Amino acid sequence: MNAWLITGGAGFIGSNFVRMAHERIDAKLIVLDALTYAGDLARIDDILTSSKVEFIKGDICDTELVQSIFKKHQISKVIHFAAESHVDRSIFEPHAFIKTNVEGTLVLLEAARKAWGDRQDACFLQVSTDEVFGALGPDDPPFNESSPYQPNNPYSASKAASDHLVWAWHHTFGLPTIISNCSNNYGPWQYPEKFIPLMIFNALEGKPLPVYGDGLQVRDWLHVEDHCEALLTILEKGSAGETYTIGGNNERKNMYVVNMIADAVDDITGNPKGTSHELIRYVKDRPGHDRRYAIDSSRLQRELGWHAMFVFEDALYDLVGWYIWHKEWVDSVRAKDYSNSYKKQYGDI
Ligand code: NAD
Ligand code: DAU
Repeated sequence: MNAWLITGGAGFIGSNFVRMAHERIDAKLIVLDALTYAGDLARIDDILTSSKVEFIKGDICDTELVQSIFKKHQISKVIHFAAESHVDRSIFEPHAFIKTNVEGTLVLLEAARKAWGDRQDACFLQVSTDEVFGALGPDDPPFNESSPYQPNNPYSASKAASDHLVWAWHHTFGLPTIISNCSNNYGPWQYPEKFIPLMIFNALEGKPLPVYGDGLQVRDWLHVEDHCEALLTILEKGSAGETYTIGGNNERKNMYVVNMIADAVDDITGNPKGTSHELIRYVKDRPGHDRRYAIDSSRLQRELGWHAMFVFEDALYDLVGWYIWHKEWVDSVRAKDYSNSYKKQYGDI
């Protein structure tokens, strides 16, 4: 049976993708994930018993394992999500980022090259980020497929390096690769160290809401399901050797998002209005903090017919409800590693 290899499929975006692909695609889904602190099988609990899904716990840096997967299965597509993904952690501990994001990508590319030879009907889709393009000034046009690479932090440098490897494997060896660079995702199952779920949970628990610097940094929020739709569209209609930028067209300042979350939490839990706003604290800025990201997705819309469907404000309000409903899951992932890294990042606030 035709198979897709999905790396990092127990993570936030990967798990949303596996669930969508399971519904829509007639292929075996091989999910390879090391289950680091960020990976959790509960995210795909509902489909793990499906005969279409095979989960393999393993490291993408393990050449033998990765090559054995290509030998055992007829892999026609690799959708490569596995990565160390949190910028703050990359500032404390960069080594793991270089190891997984750069070396792991190399291992996968080499395994695909060996298995596929000259085959051109396969696809290696590298799921990358807008952070590789660096930071925008307030009046700059959004990033697009022609934007130059200028990564500013260890995480984005490692993703940029892996994108360069992917491009080189296409250019030099003819490997059929595609790179997608997307903006900040939000939605169900995100690990609660990231901005939106962290603010939701701190507000729910009456803890401080730590805003870095002046809170006027801008991110372009993309719903994870819109992102997964875009990836399926690219896999179906995209061309090898191309890059596609994916954004939600939702540029928002961090303070705006925190205020919205505070309002939603008060509204849903019945707190007196303004209660959660009292929790906002301005804390030391992230070193090298990129001021603004924004993405121009017009090529993806024009050439492949993809459009984002979610309305940010409505989806964010619903998401607060989703996280309240899934508090048990959040508690279970926080029980693993969360309090040490939280203390390291935020001290005693
Ligand atoms: P995540 O941290 O939630 O998930 C990463 C997954 O990769 C986890 O399940 C983890 O166990 C797994 N993993 C880590 N190291 C591994 C290794 N060595 N071998 C096998 N598996 C390993 O990340 P995410 O937010 O879902 O991001 C997925 C991908 O999308 C990443 O490549 C990231 O760079 C990219 N991306 C994320 C965003 C975003 O906003 N979250 C935006 C743009 C691009
Ligand atoms: O742009 C895509 C990238 O988005 C992805 O490639 C990364 O994997 C993903 O983690 C995300 O990176 P950011 O650094 O933009 O996301 P984060 O959720 O860490 O932070 C979003 C913004 O909120 C950023 O400006 C930093 C700020 N922030 C974050 C945290 C965790 C705070 O002000 N306080 C916080 O406590």
